[in-house]
Amino acid sequence: MQIGPIPLANRLFVAPMAGVTDRPFRMLCKSLGAGYAVSEMVTSRPDLWASLKTSRRANHDGETSPISVQIAGTDARMMADAAAYNIDRGAQIIDINMGCPAKKVCNKWAGSALMQDEPLALSIVEAVVAAAAPYGVPVTLKMRTGWCDAQKNAVAIARAAESAGVQMLTVHGRTREQGYAGRAEYRTIAAVKAAVRIPVVANGDIDSPEKARDVLAATGADAVMIGRAAQGRPWIFREIGHFLATGEHLAPPLVAEVRRLLIDHLQEHYALYGERTGVRSARKHIGWYVRGLPGAEAFRARMNAIEDTARQTAAVKDFWDALEATMQRLPTAMPAAPAEADADETQPH
Ligand SMILES: Cc1cc2nc3c(=O)[nH]c(=O)nc-3n(C[C@H](O)[C@H](O)[C@H](O)COP(=O)(O)O)c2cc1C
Repeated sequence: MQIGPIPLANRLFVAPMAGVTDRPFRMLCKSLGAGYAVSEMVTSRPDLWASLKTSRRANHDGETSPISVQIAGTDARMMADAAAYNIDRGAQIIDINMGCPAKKVCNKWAGSALMQDEPLALSIVEAVVAAAAPYGVPVTLKMRTGWCDAQKNAVAIARAAESAGVQMLTVHGRTREQGYAGRAEYRTIAAVKAAVRIPVVANGDIDSPEKARDVLAATGADAVMIGRAAQGRPWIFREIGHFLATGEHLAPPLVAEVRRLLIDHLQEHYALYGERTGVRSARKHIGWYVRGLPGAEAFRARMNAIEDTARQTAAVKDFWDALEATMQRLPTAMPAAPAEADADETQPH
């Protein structure tokens, strides 16, 4: 599996999720078997590049290669400048967001809304490819199956993007209109794969080793991308990789291992966000790790009232110590990730 000239460790990818797939989470997923991770989207608005939020999103210190940055916007010139700006700061791959509703970019809808306007979408793709070409940086595109059920134009956009020089396509098997409702469908992803020669990545509702195997088989895709199912469960990549290689399931992780992973994750998280923001933004991750475990609801309620990182870490340690006294490994059946994306988190800066 390669993106242009860049080889990848495997074909299991972490999805870009604004407010979730920050550098600590990407590095954790990569250490647990993900072959590739795309960063949270960053805006193409230059007036926001110096903001704390964007500079955190553009922070790749110590990240395993390749560094991939997703950009969002509606103006071809600005998107080209954003590509060059991020390449200067270490991006080795530029991903264009046409897969997620991004609000507030130049006061217009960006991201998946671009699928409604094919000429504009193509002009953005051409400008970004032209901006990245002098650096030898491949450009990829993430999209949905179309704007709505009556306008599923993923195949047309895929063909045009390939002709314009895009080197990999990711397709989330829902329309823009669907949001996160209903189920992802994979027929359109298979049609995209059949229509182009560049690698195609299948995305949407992949939450188990069997589902990954089935989606790869149904679509012929070169890779799968996993978003919500990795929240609080970054070892899902290791589980899927093992299953695809052997047909066997790994045992669920040891409670002691998850405790260590979570504590390390929190330390990295606090280091990136600082005390005040860190303690708050860590809550959702902690909540995802404990989802479905005995005592999780009461623990979350207590933890949400804690306002400093030292006490938050201590509470997390206590929870996992108590859990370890009752079980050695996590239960086999863990509840699924929440169906909805947080609308606020789709804001691109
Ligand atoms: C909280 C959240 C934030 C997201 N942010 C982005 C984003 O910044 N860029 C993007 O292309 N897609 C974004 N997505 C969409 C995911 O990348 C992915 O396409 C979608 O969640 C479907 O995959 P899944 O079923 O494995 O979660 C986001 C999804 C979630 C849940």
